[in-house]
Amino acid sequence: MNKLYTFFYLLCLFLIVACTPEEKEESKNLPPLTNDIINGDKLWSRINSEDNFKDWSSWPDYEGIRPGQSPHGRFHKIYINDVLAKALPITKNIAPMGSIIIKENYDSNKKVLEYTVMAKIEGYNPSQGDWFWGYYQPDGGVKMEGKPAMCIDCHASSSSDFVLLQRLDFGE
Ligand code: HEC
Repeated sequence: MNKLYTFFYLLCLFLIVACTPEEKEESKNLPPLTNDIINGDKLWSRINSEDNFKDWSSWPDYEGIRPGQSPHGRFHKIYINDVLAKALPITKNIAPMGSIIIKENYDSNKKVLEYTVMAKIEGYNPSQGDWFWGYYQPDGGVKMEGKPAMCIDCHASSSSDFVLLQRLDFGE
C-alpha cells in the first residue's frame, strides 16, 4: 500500500513539474537610454547586463550568421531589440526612439572580431538620425563611440535612416 502511495505521489510530482509551462522571459521594459547618460560603456552594459542581446530577435528573414561586406567582418549576425522588432516594417523608414541594432562581426573562422552597434537616442544627433554609434572589442572595450564620421559617412548612403542592411519598410 505504502509503495503504491509513493508511486502516485511521485507521479503527481512529475506531472506537476512536467506540465508547468516554462516561464517565458518577459521583455525587460527598461527605460530608454537618454541623451544625458549615453556613452559607450553605458550602451555596452545596457545590451549585456541590464538586458541580454543574445535573447533578442534577429533581423526579420535574416537569421543566423551571414556573409558580410567590407569594412565589417567576413561574417555577421544581427540582433535587434524589442522596440524595433515590434515596429517593423516601418513605412516612413525612420526607426523609433529606443531602437538598438547590434552587429556581431566574425572573422573567416567565425570567431567574434568586434561589435558594431547603433542606438537611437532622442535628441542625441538630430541632424544625423539621432543614432549613437558604438564600436567594441569582443570584451566590451570601446574602440569608437558617439558620432564617428567614419561610421556616419558610409551609412549616410542608406535611403532608410542610416540602416544599410535592408530598408525599414522592407522595400527594395
Ligand atoms: C565603408 C562603409 C561602412 C562603414 C565605414 C561602416 N559601416 Fe556599418 N555597415 C556597412 C554595410 C555595407 C552594412 C550592411 C551589413 C554588412 O554587409 O556588413 C553595415 C551594417 C551595419 C550595422 C547593421 C545595421 C545596418 O545598418 O545594416 C551596424 C549596427 C553597423 N553597420 C554599425 C557601424 C558602426 C558602429 C560603424 C563605425 C564604427 C560602421 N558601421 C561603419 C557599411 C559601413
